[in-house]
Amino acid sequence: MSTNQGVPEGTEITITKPDDWHVHLRDGAEMKSVVGYTATPFRRALIMPNLEPPITTIYQLMSYRNQILGMTSHGFNPFMTLYLTNMTSPDEVTRAVADGSVKAMKLYPAGATTNSAAGVTDITKIYPVLERMQELGMALSVHGETSDPSVDPFDRERVFVENQLQRIVDEFPDLKIVLEHVSTIEGIQFVERQCGNVAATITAHHLLLNRKAIFVGCLRPEHFCLPILQSENHRLALLKAATSGSPKFFLGTDSAPHNKHAKHNLGRGGCFTAPVALGLYAEAFEQAEALDKLEGFASHFGADFYGLPRNTETITLIKDPCVVPLEYPFGGDWVVPVRSGGMVQWRVK
Ligand code: NCD
Ligand code: ZN
Repeated sequence: MSTNQGVPEGTEITITKPDDWHVHLRDGAEMKSVVGYTATPFRRALIMPNLEPPITTIYQLMSYRNQILGMTSHGFNPFMTLYLTNMTSPDEVTRAVADGSVKAMKLYPAGATTNSAAGVTDITKIYPVLERMQELGMALSVHGETSDPSVDPFDRERVFVENQLQRIVDEFPDLKIVLEHVSTIEGIQFVERQCGNVAATITAHHLLLNRKAIFVGCLRPEHFCLPILQSENHRLALLKAATSGSPKFFLGTDSAPHNKHAKHNLGRGGCFTAPVALGLYAEAFEQAEALDKLEGFASHFGADFYGLPRNTETITLIKDPCVVPLEYPFGGDWVVPVRSGGMVQWRVK
């Protein structure tokens, strides 16, 4: 994007403290390295623990949540998602609702993304679970990509939305659904067509980057994520939706750190944005001349969707271009962020 346009340097905007409705914090030493980047600027976050092996019971999930609480201050409230498998029992939904900190069950189509091997192989297998969720008001968080290997990677979201998500919505019209990290025009249009119980998160990287970023200069593993970055017309549709003021679209960074070995040798998908996420979102909204729409997207609509009170604290963002580190410590290794070595135009004051 052009860095010389937009509002003058030094401009400040103060907004309600935001929440991140989709983030991966990993565990152990890796979590310790990155959790502060989420827990400091965000008041609450919806954590996606797609660990190996997966966390599939509320009991395991609470122990994982305690790990996060042990590494963060009282001001941060981590909400949880439970990983759905073919074997998940409807009673796990009842336990999740009773717990209160679990705000969604996560549907990973088996094989669609990082650590999704234990995910759902056929959505009809979880119909009894979806039935209970609909009944009790528990949200379904969806990784909306088909894992059918015959489908082109750039078509995976569209095919999933047309074939699978449409079926889920038809079968369970009152189920609360979040199409996570929506990346395509078709995904946006699908969400817009539904009632208020269907919404989507949008990442900062999908708002700012198109698929050229994967190949700029050389192959750029830090820009490889799932769903994959799309062409410019899709990016523009996402930007339009995010800045439209529609409560159906809200902030979810999908910040997903991987160490350099996992990125370079294992081809892991996931963009690490947490340390600069709010600065990147502010850039995107500035680019769309819609900074006045940032607060709703970042701080209001997600809470409204999940039936939670809006935060009362505020934060101030300042347009103060600064250099993004080349890499950040991550466990005993390093993680390369989006914008590595480049400039981010905004920061939290
Ligand atoms: C995520 C990860 O690494 O955990 N990867 C990604 O590319 N977004 C998983 C996910 O959200 O799909
Ligand atoms: Zn994710």
